Amino acid sequence: MSRVPAAVGVIGGGRMGAGIAQVFLAAGARVAVVEAGGDAAQAAHNRIADGLEEAARRGKLDGDVATALGRLTLLDSPTELDPATGLVVEAVPERADLKAEVLRAAEAAVGPEAVLATNTSSLSVTELAAALERPARFLGLHFFNPVPASKLVEVVVAPETAPELVGTAGGWVRALGKTDVVVNDSPGFASSRLGVLLGLEAIRMLEEGVADAEAIDTAMELGYRHPMGPLRSTDLVGLDVRLAIAEYLHRTLGERFAPPQLLRDKVAAGELGRKTGRGFHTYD
Ligand SMILES: NC(=O)c1ccc[n+]([C@@H]2O[C@H](COP(=O)([O-])OP(=O)(O)OC[C@H]3O[C@@H](n4cnc5c(N)ncnc54)[C@H](O)[C@@H]3O)[C@@H](O)[C@H]2O)c1
Repeated sequence: MSRVPAAVGVIGGGRMGAGIAQVFLAAGARVAVVEAGGDAAQAAHNRIADGLEEAARRGKLDGDVATALGRLTLLDSPTELDPATGLVVEAVPERADLKAEVLRAAEAAVGPEAVLATNTSSLSVTELAAALERPARFLGLHFFNPVPASKLVEVVVAPETAPELVGTAGGWVRALGKTDVVVNDSPGFASSRLGVLLGLEAIRMLEEGVADAEAIDTAMELGYRHPMGPLRSTDLVGLDVRLAIAEYLHRTLGERFAPPQLLRDKVAAGELGRKTGRGFHTYD
């Protein structure tokens, strides 16, 4: 049975970073979270503490919250990471320049055997690798939101990733109680590429009047056992987020990802899904 590394660094303690820190703490690692300092560090600490409390309430935490939190430290910069850190996952905002900068700083702080990973949902792992001194020690670990409850992690392999890293990273994912799927670096990886395509086709069906939103979602939920239909899923992710991903996949993979006009219209009208109370469905 694989174990997670004894010391893990997480850069960015936002929605994803806090979840990633939480699951590694729960698996017994010492975790250093790098945040922009001041209020951001306190907010990250609170998110992680709240997440651990929630896990404990649901009976999903081995040990107690205080012990897990005792293994957490917050740092102001990746240059302060412990040289003995075995894995660093970056989860800063989706900007290639920012990600390259924090990954380079982390690489200079940790030992040559450490593994560096990006949690990017859409950027090229291959291009990020080009910013590093040791691209062989780098790969994508694409966690899903919310991290503690999601079972899947995509292990994204760039051409220069050392082959043995794939097995090592997969072992860590399984030690977190999650399932790894290995994907070669390409736009949208496996999950977004298929998920977004299904969502776009559902929107086109709505545009063409094939069926209403409820019928389209129910067809996939009951007919194909999807836990959530493609339009409900688009509402959950956010129509603006889906549109941005579709535009990127349209540019990189071609016409089949062209965003439907209805999606553009809804985003322009501020109907962004659950977060605004209205998307393809309405929410209280
Ligand atoms: N939200 C999702 O559903 C989701 C799912 C999978 C992957 N991702 C990816 O995860 C990454 C993070 O997304 P998120 O939703 O957690 O964003 P977020 O905005 O919630 O968190 C980003 C955090 O990074 C911090 N930060 C900014 N600059 C920093 C710096 N220089 N050093 C350290 N910390 C810094 C911010 O203060 C913030 O707390 C993105 O690449 C995103 O594409 C997001």
